[in-house]
Amino acid sequence: MTLRWNAEAIWEAVSPLLPGFTVEILPEIDSTNTELMRRARAGQLEPTLLVAERQTAGRGRLGRDWQSDAQDQSPNLTFSLGLPLHPTDWSGLSLAVGLAVVQALHPDLQLKWPNDVWLAGRKLAGILIETASVGELRYAVIGIGINITPRAAADLRTPPAALSELLPDATAPLALQRVVLPLVQAIRAFEREGFAPLRPAFHTRDLLYGHEVVCSDGLVGMARGVDAGGALLVHTDQGLKKISSAEVSVRPRPAPTASLP
Ligand code: BTN
Repeated sequence: MTLRWNAEAIWEAVSPLLPGFTVEILPEIDSTNTELMRRARAGQLEPTLLVAERQTAGRGRLGRDWQSDAQDQSPNLTFSLGLPLHPTDWSGLSLAVGLAVVQALHPDLQLKWPNDVWLAGRKLAGILIETASVGELRYAVIGIGINITPRAAADLRTPPAALSELLPDATAPLALQRVVLPLVQAIRAFEREGFAPLRPAFHTRDLLYGHEVVCSDGLVGMARGVDAGGALLVHTDQGLKKISSAEVSVRPRPAPTASLP
């Protein structure tokens, strides 16, 4: 399937916010994040939007793979935005990015802390943020994968969700066009103001709020939103705990016990 990427319109909208911005669409690459990190380490630090119609070695958070091959001919969206970034405080960046993505795409989308995008109990998009320090400068690579059409569940327990369930005409180019400018605006605002002003908006999309959760370190408690730095607040028997880095899952409710007559 030939895709029509409206790279020029994106470039025109984003350039005023990111001087020196370029847009690049590739038919195939190992990973858009890997490529922008390679370039940054080689001293290429211009703001760049790199889109791949296919990734052969897509990467997810926590060292996982990111599979994005669609079942039909219409590809899923995989792209990375690389840019020099100088926020006063980096905490909460990944939440701010997740929030920009859900707000740009659809009101029904939720965020599973820190930044997984979920629809009706299934994951729809993932975000991987990496940074490279080059001298005084820090270059951030913000990689986003959005399922546009249903894709094979591979080894996932729950089959992923797809944007076409909400927006039947969704394509990768349309989703990209919808997301990039709000994403850049959100990053610029984050640089100036940090995560704190976004806390109420995150709350409205917070999938975990009020659910009993289990963290990868074994901590169990009730999710109570996030603090001004984006840490997850968990109410436990030992009091309120702040989780800054852990994998968190909703604790399945115990099966109801059958009572015999
Ligand atoms: C996750 O949920 O684990 C994060 C997934 C991030 C996937 C995107 S696709 C574009 C960019 N390139 C990659 O290799 N990963 C990110």
